[in-house]
Amino acid sequence: MSAVIIDGRAVADRIQTEIAADVDRFVGQYGYPPGLGVVLAGDNPASAQYVRMKRRACEKVGMTSVAHLMTNASTQEEVEGIVAALNADPAIHGILVQLPLPKHIDEERVLRLVSLDKDVDGFHPINIGMLGMKGREPLFTPATPTGCMVLLAEAGVKIEGADAVVIGRSNIVGLPVAMMLMKANATVTVCHSRTRNIADIVRRADIVIAAIGQPEYVKGEWLKPGAAVIDVGTNKIDDPGDEKGYRFVGDVEFSTAVEVAGAITKVPGGVGPMTITMLLKNTMKAAQRMAKLEKPSMVKPS
Ligand code: GUN
Repeated sequence: MSAVIIDGRAVADRIQTEIAADVDRFVGQYGYPPGLGVVLAGDNPASAQYVRMKRRACEKVGMTSVAHLMTNASTQEEVEGIVAALNADPAIHGILVQLPLPKHIDEERVLRLVSLDKDVDGFHPINIGMLGMKGREPLFTPATPTGCMVLLAEAGVKIEGADAVVIGRSNIVGLPVAMMLMKANATVTVCHSRTRNIADIVRRADIVIAAIGQPEYVKGEWLKPGAAVIDVGTNKIDDPGDEKGYRFVGDVEFSTAVEVAGAITKVPGGVGPMTITMLLKNTMKAAQRMAKLEKPSMVKPS
């Protein structure tokens, strides 16, 4: 049996069309577009590529984006100075600090400085804390984990009462997606580099979220038949057969997993497009919130 493919590209395109219409209405109502401020420090080529894609997506839906591209030599004070300026800028409704930051930068101090109203990445410790707490709701949730949850909903996967296994415990994906699944009443197990017998744990799961950054790590034979599999990995591997000499694969061995899973995402074309889309959605929400709040500090941009 072959799994249903969860088409992240198609879902993302549909949601981005809705966001573009929201932006149109917003501009009609308030006379200025939602704006995203992006901070990129360092020379990580993958981060630079993600930032380009995020800015292109902003343009496509009619949002503005302002990028602050800083070198590896940028100091803590310089990065914090940029975040403070974006916090104070009324034309900016969302702030994205691309991670990872260079090693000498204190990431927590930078993320803590982002205005809660503009924390469209959902990484401010207060938003992450609210996500983890029962009966509390964060203002914004991180983009990639939110994209995973939307894809599960799109595929009609029942989360309540399900056994979910998250592989990976990063601050950006593993940890927040585990908290989101728990909030949605799944029974959640988080596997990581020290977990013993990962295959046996994965075999019990109705839902598998693979976010470890290891090419084709999860094998089809590890899966419970019919499981929903969300593959967050984007790993570049050599492929002499490809004209570029490389290709991207996920954290799941797709060829074997598709034969066992009930539903599965592809790489590329699965979670990736959803990450950008959820960032746009959060930025739209931030702009609408701010416009409605009419905070005295938020003077309308000219
Ligand atoms: N680096 C990898 N993924 C992300 C993300 O979703 N947000 C930010 N800010 N940095 C990232």
